[in-house]
Amino acid sequence: MRIEPAPPGAPDVVEGVLLSAGQIAERVAELGAAISADYAGREVILVTVLRGGLFFLSDLCRAVADPLRIDFMAISSYGAREQGGGVRITKDLDEDIEGKDVLIVEDIIDTGLTLNYLLGVLRSRGPRSLQVAVLLDRDQRRIADVPISYRGFHMPDTFVVGYGLDIRGRYRNLPYVGVAKPEAYEQGLG
Ligand code: IMP
Ligand code: MG
Repeated sequence: MRIEPAPPGAPDVVEGVLLSAGQIAERVAELGAAISADYAGREVILVTVLRGGLFFLSDLCRAVADPLRIDFMAISSYGAREQGGGVRITKDLDEDIEGKDVLIVEDIIDTGLTLNYLLGVLRSRGPRSLQVAVLLDRDQRRIADVPISYRGFHMPDTFVVGYGLDIRGRYRNLPYVGVAKPEAYEQGLG
């Protein structure tokens, strides 16, 4: 993957551009077409994890054919997850997903622990199907082996910001996915 120079006016933390708005839009359109074909005529519930996945969801859902619903969850992590720390639901779905076709929409998968937890929770509610769409797959630190049905991009082992991804809550609104300078996030991952 080529990293392009940061555009003029980019925040100081951005070292370069990994994915431009155009590259993202093109891939999201392809994923939307694939999802539309696979779920043809069936209502799919797109479930997104706040807050990072919101931007991908917003573009993806407009590239998927009806019928479709969207719903949200929020989770928070505590402790060092690699050492057995956990994940907890802070906002649950509004929809009942029993017997429904559910597609989880995530911004990025790193260790896979967040998604693994979510899959377990949602599977226990008896959906008819449960699949995953993720924009960015960074598999170098994967701990939990999670099934990914729709993948935007494989990405290198760099910390990124923009298009939903943050450092301590900021930079989500950048229209591109930018590589963050190491000194910007080394005090703790966003
Ligand atoms: P996992 O449980 O290790 O797969 O963590 C995935 C979550 O960590 C994502 O949903 C993001 O919130 C966050 N995350 C992982 N990598 C990055 C990154 O490069 N930038 C911003 N957030 C990230
Ligand atoms: Mg997230």
